[in-house]
Amino acid sequence: MPDKKDKTKNETKGLRLYIRTFGCQMNIRDSELVCGLLGNAGYKMVEEPQDAGVIIINTCSVRQHAEDRVWSVIGAYKKEQLKRKGKLGEISIIGLIGCMAQNYKEQVFEKSPDVDFVVGPADIHKIPDIIDTLIKNKGLFEKKIWETDGLKRPEHIYHDIGYDSKKHTYVVISEGCSNFCSYCVVPFVRGALRHRSHKNIIKEINEALDKGVTSVTLLGQNVNSYQDGAVDFVKLLELVNSLKGLKEFNFLTSHPKDTTTDLFKAIASLGKLKKELHLPLQSGSDRILKLMNRGYTSKYYLNLTQNYRKIVKNGLLSSDVILGFPSESEADFKDTLNLLKQIKFNAAYIFKYSPRPQTKAMALPDDVSKAEKEGRHKTILDLQRAISKSKVIPQKSPLNAK
Ligand code: 5AD
Ligand code: SF4
Repeated sequence: MPDKKDKTKNETKGLRLYIRTFGCQMNIRDSELVCGLLGNAGYKMVEEPQDAGVIIINTCSVRQHAEDRVWSVIGAYKKEQLKRKGKLGEISIIGLIGCMAQNYKEQVFEKSPDVDFVVGPADIHKIPDIIDTLIKNKGLFEKKIWETDGLKRPEHIYHDIGYDSKKHTYVVISEGCSNFCSYCVVPFVRGALRHRSHKNIIKEINEALDKGVTSVTLLGQNVNSYQDGAVDFVKLLELVNSLKGLKEFNFLTSHPKDTTTDLFKAIASLGKLKKELHLPLQSGSDRILKLMNRGYTSKYYLNLTQNYRKIVKNGLLSSDVILGFPSESEADFKDTLNLLKQIKFNAAYIFKYSPRPQTKAMALPDDVSKAEKEGRHKTILDLQRAISKSKVIPQKSPLNAK
């Protein structure tokens, strides 16, 4: 065993860690992975930020609002931490990880000097060493560390994790996204789509089942494009369905362009797979769908949902919609309302368009006024609430930011 590793364990043993997670299920899972890594290095998780020597904030960049909330909590956490410094063994470290870390890289330190380290989604395995270095440098000179150049996570992080009498767990099947929907920051902050091998995924699920988990959610930005060279998404679902000890499973999120009749048949026939589908629509206007680079028309989407309902009897169907995309007219908006009326989703998550850095849509004027966005938001929420009321609500929320 190398000396360094033993030393790391001793220096950090008992150090108290608090993690706050913003955003989607992918971030929830990433926070669990970080807790697993740091738990193995001897850290103790605490429930309140003021009790922690190390605070990690796992962040979301999907909409501006999510970022604004993060900037506002950092200062408050630092204040609490410093108040308790004596009791925390003089350690007061704040780390910012996740999509904002990748979005702003070392600029985070300019925006918020209270942050000590910045780690992107593909570099989370480096966190234990980074904190150790910061602790060693304590008092010598002020040091900031950032790691945002990783391309792929090492496989071991998916296996070095405890389940603490949990019944359900998320399992990442693919990382990143290469779809480049024109409004979306994900391909820029989570990188190109990479699929984990089906053998590793099955191994991870079996490890969870051995520890008492009975329900899993397969996670990815675009799960139904899964392909590891030997196994495609439907085949993966069949493999998971056959695992002994597993009671039920589902998956998030699907892209309409990669959604096939074979997938619907699998949902209908695989006994443990929940009869539900989260299929983001985004807009009911063909003009806007084209500007969004979604790769389908409203007619294609409608046919798809009709096919789903025919094959998956009583299957739940939910969606995401963005309103106020650049140049969205009243007529475009009405197209969306009409499609919602026709399809009658069990649930739809409605988002006001938020311009994101680096995206193609950023070059378009954000010309739907705030008041129009508010008005459309209310109209569509009222409509969807009325539709949802007459339907069953899906048990699990979909892969979208809070
Ligand atoms: N503005 C508003 N909503 C967005 N989403 C993604 N990017 C944006 C953006 N720039 C929504 C989409 C996606 C969900 C996770 O978040 O509807 O499906
Ligand atoms: Fe973003 Fe989803 Fe489009 Fe990928 S498929 S770019 S994650 S909205």
